[in-house]
Amino acid sequence: MSDPDTSHPPLRSREWFGPNDLRAMTARAYLRAEGLTGSFFDGRPVVGICNSWSELTTCNAHLRQVAEAVKRGVLAAGGLPLEFPTISLGETLMKPTTMLYRNLMAMDVEECIRAYPLDAVVLLCGCDKTTPAQIMGAASADVPAIVVPGGPMLRGMWKGKPIGSGTDTRRFWNGKRAGEITDEEWCEIERCISRSAGHCMVMGTASTMTSMAEALGMTLPGAANIPAADSRRYAIAEESGRRAVEMAREGLRPSQVLTLEAFENAIRADMAIGGSTNAIIHLVAIAGRVGIPLPLEMFDEISRTTPFITNIKPSGAYLMEDMYYAGGLPAVLKELSPLLRLNALTVTGKTMGENIAQAECFNREIIKPLSQPLYPEGGTVILKGNLAPHGAVIKQTAASPHLQKHKGRAVVFENYEDMMARVDDPKLSVDENCVLVLKSAGPKGAPGMPEWGDMPIPEKLLKAGISDMVRISDARMSGTAYGTVVLHVSPESADGGPLALVQEGDTIELDVHGRRLELLVPEAELKKRRTAWTPPEPHYQRGYGRMFLEHILQAHEGCDFDYLRKV
Ligand code: FES
Repeated sequence: MSDPDTSHPPLRSREWFGPNDLRAMTARAYLRAEGLTGSFFDGRPVVGICNSWSELTTCNAHLRQVAEAVKRGVLAAGGLPLEFPTISLGETLMKPTTMLYRNLMAMDVEECIRAYPLDAVVLLCGCDKTTPAQIMGAASADVPAIVVPGGPMLRGMWKGKPIGSGTDTRRFWNGKRAGEITDEEWCEIERCISRSAGHCMVMGTASTMTSMAEALGMTLPGAANIPAADSRRYAIAEESGRRAVEMAREGLRPSQVLTLEAFENAIRADMAIGGSTNAIIHLVAIAGRVGIPLPLEMFDEISRTTPFITNIKPSGAYLMEDMYYAGGLPAVLKELSPLLRLNALTVTGKTMGENIAQAECFNREIIKPLSQPLYPEGGTVILKGNLAPHGAVIKQTAASPHLQKHKGRAVVFENYEDMMARVDDPKLSVDENCVLVLKSAGPKGAPGMPEWGDMPIPEKLLKAGISDMVRISDARMSGTAYGTVVLHVSPESADGGPLALVQEGDTIELDVHGRRLELLVPEAELKKRRTAWTPPEPHYQRGYGRMFLEHILQAHEGCDFDYLRKV
């Protein structure tokens, strides 16, 4: 039962299966109950397949099939694959928000990897939070790990035209509220929008985070963007299984891949693809797991020097299937080469530069050259000012140009229920120049910082042809959404941030180019309001919710739990 292979670091799994004692015999005997023969205990690497499959996480519902492909690769390379489940976070069905549970999933992933006899792990993810949660957990466990995303859905098609998850449904919903889309058409769209397995097929949070996994060097090259329904999705899963066996033998750990250079590459890629604003929170949280601080200023600096070059909704015109055919993320990274840290090590055992050396762009309408970008700066920028002392974010490429320098009267909603009750009230005092403000939507206030930030345009304005307004909150926004929406205001209102002090009729100034967000109220008046402010009652007294409220960090710190960061 001794490890016959002495040319590599010892395998973790040998502690469980190697000794000639009662405990190891029991470990082997119970695996034999699954029909395994003794040949699987000959010292070969054990590869865990960490599966976020769930029928409640619709975007990940095909991951059992992807796991089968990974198993083929592990077996072919001489490893033992063992698939295991964790909790899964389904964006469309989970209430109040998956973000409330991202850290719980990360803890589940981390503790499973640490507690079981795994020499490497393949992380199967897709829907928004499943990718960062798995990488956070794997980073903390620091056992060799490789990510295999489930891939985006095929394009939605309606009346012969491609339509994109979230982005187009929001547009159609506004059309329905304005009386431009009939009930019958609305039902047709429901049948046409999600026509294959996979996650949202715009550059929403899922496509952004799987692209971040690739830009961080945590996937095989090209793994992020292959559609879920494409056979090459299964081929790359098989290759990833093979590679996991090699990584187990080499001992190549996440801490060697998730370096400052890798995070710089990921932020650079995020800006070039017009990635979801949520990527900022998740990247800060992942980096925190390996002890790397990512201040918001770093995102802004990189944004100023990275052109937006990827023509995908919601900031562009095409869908993820088109991006894959155009060359996918490797082609984007190749274009970004002069700006990247090409020496960053990846899970291939090679550098990012080596991985993308042969990448090609096949469609310049979709992936633009650096010299002819869609926008000269990155998709997301950081705002600061007396309304957001620790920062706020806005996706400038999805915002209306005429609203990016704007001063307006605040129309204030104290919380989500207040907003839903009043926003369409014909008596609401609001015009297109007003600034909609939503409070109590942050990590503690909501709780869980839901995607409420793209507040509905009041119906009477929609009917008058207004499609965008400045909106400000401590919430997040779906990566599929768009508009002049300021998010992640930090500190949040429920934590006593200045957003809590905004009152109906105050004037707010937004200057995206100048990176400023100001509440134009004299400091003496704000001081008076601060003294009168009382914190809201906590949402939970027991259980996970209480732990969440006691330990959740603010948006600019990545919303991880304070005790999960590497110190
Ligand atoms: Fe799962 Fe959009 S709902 S990725």
